[in-house]
Amino acid sequence: MSPDQVHLIRKSFAELSRHDHVAALVFYRRLFEIDPTLRPLFVGDIEQQAKKLIDMLAALISMLERPVGLDMELRAMGARHADYGVKDEHYATVGGALIDMLSEVLGNKFTPAAREAWLALYGAVEATMKRGAADAEAAKKASS
Ligand code: HEM
Repeated sequence: MSPDQVHLIRKSFAELSRHDHVAALVFYRRLFEIDPTLRPLFVGDIEQQAKKLIDMLAALISMLERPVGLDMELRAMGARHADYGVKDEHYATVGGALIDMLSEVLGNKFTPAAREAWLALYGAVEATMKRGAADAEAAKKASS
Protein backbone atom coordinates (compact mmCIF):
# COMPACT_ATOMS: atom_id res chain seq x y z
CA MET A 1 0.00 0.00 0.00
CA SER A 2 1.24 3.48 -0.82
CA PRO A 3 1.79 6.17 1.87
CA ASP A 4 -1.18 8.03 0.38
CA GLN A 5 -3.41 5.01 0.85
CA VAL A 6 -2.23 4.61 4.45
CA HIS A 7 -3.09 8.26 5.07
CA LEU A 8 -6.55 7.89 3.51
CA ILE A 9 -7.35 4.87 5.65
CA ARG A 10 -6.22 6.56 8.86
CA LYS A 11 -8.38 9.57 8.02
CA SER A 12 -11.51 7.54 7.39
CA PHE A 13 -10.87 5.40 10.50
CA ALA A 14 -10.62 8.53 12.67
CA GLU A 15 -13.88 9.84 11.19
CA LEU A 16 -15.63 6.48 11.68
CA SER A 17 -14.58 6.20 15.33
CA ARG A 18 -16.67 9.30 15.99
CA HIS A 19 -19.75 7.47 14.70
CA ASP A 20 -19.13 3.93 15.88
CA HIS A 21 -22.75 3.14 16.84
CA VAL A 22 -24.14 4.37 13.56
CA ALA A 23 -21.35 2.57 11.73
CA ALA A 24 -22.21 -0.70 13.52
CA LEU A 25 -25.93 -0.33 12.80
CA VAL A 26 -25.29 0.36 9.13
CA PHE A 27 -22.67 -2.39 8.79
CA TYR A 28 -24.71 -5.20 10.39
CA ARG A 29 -27.95 -4.13 8.69
CA ARG A 30 -26.18 -4.28 5.33
CA LEU A 31 -24.38 -7.53 6.15
CA PHE A 32 -27.60 -9.36 7.11
CA GLU A 33 -29.37 -7.86 4.10
CA ILE A 34 -26.72 -9.36 1.81
CA ASP A 35 -26.68 -12.70 3.66
CA PRO A 36 -29.28 -13.30 6.39
CA THR A 37 -27.79 -16.73 7.14
CA LEU A 38 -24.84 -14.96 8.85
CA ARG A 39 -27.10 -13.57 11.60
CA PRO A 40 -26.68 -16.52 14.03
CA LEU A 41 -22.88 -16.17 13.96
CA PHE A 42 -23.11 -12.84 15.73
CA VAL A 43 -24.40 -12.64 19.27
CA GLY A 44 -24.88 -9.69 21.59
CA ASP A 45 -26.52 -6.29 21.67
CA ILE A 46 -25.64 -3.15 19.73
CA GLU A 47 -22.97 -2.14 22.30
CA GLN A 48 -21.17 -5.43 21.75
CA GLN A 49 -21.69 -5.28 17.99
CA ALA A 50 -20.24 -1.77 17.85
CA LYS A 51 -17.22 -3.01 19.79
CA LYS A 52 -16.82 -5.99 17.45
CA LEU A 53 -16.88 -3.77 14.40
CA ILE A 54 -14.24 -1.51 15.94
CA ASP A 55 -12.18 -4.66 16.78
CA MET A 56 -12.42 -5.69 13.14
CA LEU A 57 -11.40 -2.25 11.90
CA ALA A 58 -8.58 -2.09 14.45
CA ALA A 59 -7.30 -5.46 13.23
CA LEU A 60 -7.29 -4.08 9.70
CA ILE A 61 -5.55 -0.90 10.81
CA SER A 62 -2.90 -2.83 12.75
CA MET A 63 -1.73 -4.05 9.37
CA LEU A 64 -0.75 -0.46 8.59
CA GLU A 65 1.08 0.02 11.89
CA ARG A 66 3.34 -2.99 11.56
CA PRO A 67 2.75 -5.07 8.46
CA VAL A 68 5.90 -7.06 9.12
CA GLY A 69 5.41 -9.71 11.78
CA LEU A 70 1.66 -9.51 11.61
CA ASP A 71 1.36 -12.49 9.30
CA MET A 72 1.22 -15.10 12.08
CA GLU A 73 -1.32 -13.09 14.04
CA LEU A 74 -3.63 -12.71 11.05
CA ARG A 75 -3.28 -16.40 10.20
CA ALA A 76 -4.23 -17.31 13.76
CA MET A 77 -7.18 -14.94 13.51
CA GLY A 78 -8.24 -16.67 10.28
CA ALA A 79 -8.10 -20.06 12.01
CA ARG A 80 -10.24 -18.70 14.90
CA HIS A 81 -12.73 -17.38 12.37
CA ALA A 82 -13.07 -20.85 10.86
CA ASP A 83 -13.96 -22.05 14.38
CA TYR A 84 -16.64 -19.32 14.62
CA GLY A 85 -18.19 -20.93 11.50
CA VAL A 86 -16.80 -18.44 8.96
CA LYS A 87 -16.31 -19.83 5.44
CA ASP A 88 -14.04 -18.45 2.70
CA GLU A 89 -16.98 -17.11 0.69
CA HIS A 90 -18.14 -14.99 3.66
CA TYR A 91 -15.12 -12.70 3.30
CA ALA A 92 -16.47 -11.17 0.09
CA THR A 93 -19.81 -10.56 1.82
CA VAL A 94 -18.22 -8.86 4.82
CA GLY A 95 -15.93 -6.85 2.52
CA GLY A 96 -18.98 -5.68 0.54
CA ALA A 97 -20.88 -4.69 3.70
CA LEU A 98 -17.79 -2.85 4.94
CA ILE A 99 -17.44 -0.81 1.74
CA ASP A 100 -21.18 -0.03 1.67
CA MET A 101 -21.05 1.07 5.32
CA LEU A 102 -18.03 3.31 4.72
CA SER A 103 -19.78 4.88 1.77
CA GLU A 104 -22.99 5.52 3.73
CA VAL A 105 -21.34 6.82 6.91
CA LEU A 106 -18.53 8.86 5.33
CA GLY A 107 -20.57 10.21 2.43
CA ASN A 108 -18.51 12.33 0.05
CA LYS A 109 -15.41 11.91 2.26
CA PHE A 110 -15.31 8.32 0.97
CA THR A 111 -13.60 9.23 -2.28
CA PRO A 112 -12.78 6.71 -5.04
CA ALA A 113 -9.15 6.78 -3.84
CA ALA A 114 -10.22 6.01 -0.26
CA ARG A 115 -12.36 3.14 -1.57
CA GLU A 116 -9.36 1.71 -3.47
CA ALA A 117 -7.23 1.97 -0.32
CA TRP A 118 -9.79 0.09 1.83
CA LEU A 119 -10.20 -2.59 -0.83
CA ALA A 120 -6.42 -3.10 -0.95
CA LEU A 121 -6.17 -3.34 2.84
CA TYR A 122 -9.16 -5.66 3.22
CA GLY A 123 -7.91 -7.84 0.36
CA ALA A 124 -4.47 -8.27 1.94
CA VAL A 125 -5.89 -9.15 5.38
CA GLU A 126 -8.54 -11.44 3.88
CA ALA A 127 -5.92 -13.40 1.90
CA THR A 128 -3.75 -13.97 4.99
CA MET A 129 -6.71 -14.95 7.20
CA LYS A 130 -7.93 -17.46 4.59
CA ARG A 131 -4.45 -18.99 4.41
CA GLY A 132 -4.45 -19.35 8.19
CA ALA A 133 -7.84 -21.06 8.09
CA ALA A 134 -6.70 -23.44 5.33
CA ASP A 135 -3.48 -24.31 7.17
CA ALA A 136 -5.37 -25.01 10.40
CA GLU A 137 -7.82 -27.20 8.51
CA ALA A 138 -4.96 -29.13 6.86
CA ALA A 139 -3.24 -29.57 10.25
CA LYS A 140 -6.49 -30.90 11.77
CA LYS A 141 -6.84 -33.41 8.92
CA ALA A 142 -3.22 -34.53 9.26
CA SER A 143 -3.61 -35.19 12.99
CA SER A 144 -6.91 -37.07 12.75
C1 HEM B 1 -10.54 -9.01 7.02
C2 HEM B 1 -11.56 -9.58 7.60
C3 HEM B 1 -11.86 -9.67 9.09
C4 HEM B 1 -11.24 -9.12 10.18
C5 HEM B 1 -10.01 -8.21 10.19
C6 HEM B 1 -11.97 -9.56 11.36
C7 HEM B 1 -11.65 -9.24 12.68
C8 HEM B 1 -12.24 -9.78 13.79
C9 HEM B 1 -11.76 -9.63 15.15
C10 HEM B 1 -10.52 -8.83 15.57
C11 HEM B 1 -12.61 -10.31 15.97
C12 HEM B 1 -12.49 -10.45 17.50
C13 HEM B 1 -12.17 -11.90 17.89
C14 HEM B 1 -10.89 -12.49 17.31
O1 HEM B 1 -9.86 -11.81 17.18
O2 HEM B 1 -10.92 -13.70 16.98
C15 HEM B 1 -13.63 -10.91 15.12
C16 HEM B 1 -14.67 -11.68 15.55
C17 HEM B 1 -15.64 -12.25 14.73
N1 HEM B 1 -15.72 -12.14 13.37
FE1 HEM B 1 -14.38 -11.25 12.17
N2 HEM B 1 -13.02 -10.36 10.96
C18 HEM B 1 -12.98 -10.45 9.58
C19 HEM B 1 -13.85 -11.14 8.78
C20 HEM B 1 -14.96 -11.82 9.21
C21 HEM B 1 -15.87 -12.53 8.34
C22 HEM B 1 -15.74 -12.67 6.84
C23 HEM B 1 -16.85 -13.03 9.13
C24 HEM B 1 -18.04 -13.82 8.61
C25 HEM B 1 -19.26 -13.56 8.88
C26 HEM B 1 -16.53 -12.66 10.52
C27 HEM B 1 -17.24 -13.01 11.63
C28 HEM B 1 -16.82 -12.85 12.93
C29 HEM B 1 -17.49 -13.44 14.07
C30 HEM B 1 -18.77 -14.29 14.02
C31 HEM B 1 -16.75 -13.06 15.20
C32 HEM B 1 -17.04 -13.45 16.64
C33 HEM B 1 -18.18 -12.63 17.12
C34 HEM B 1 -18.59 -12.95 18.50
O3 HEM B 1 -17.75 -12.83 19.41
O4 HEM B 1 -19.76 -13.25 18.66
N3 HEM B 1 -15.38 -11.91 10.52
N4 HEM B 1 -13.39 -10.57 13.81
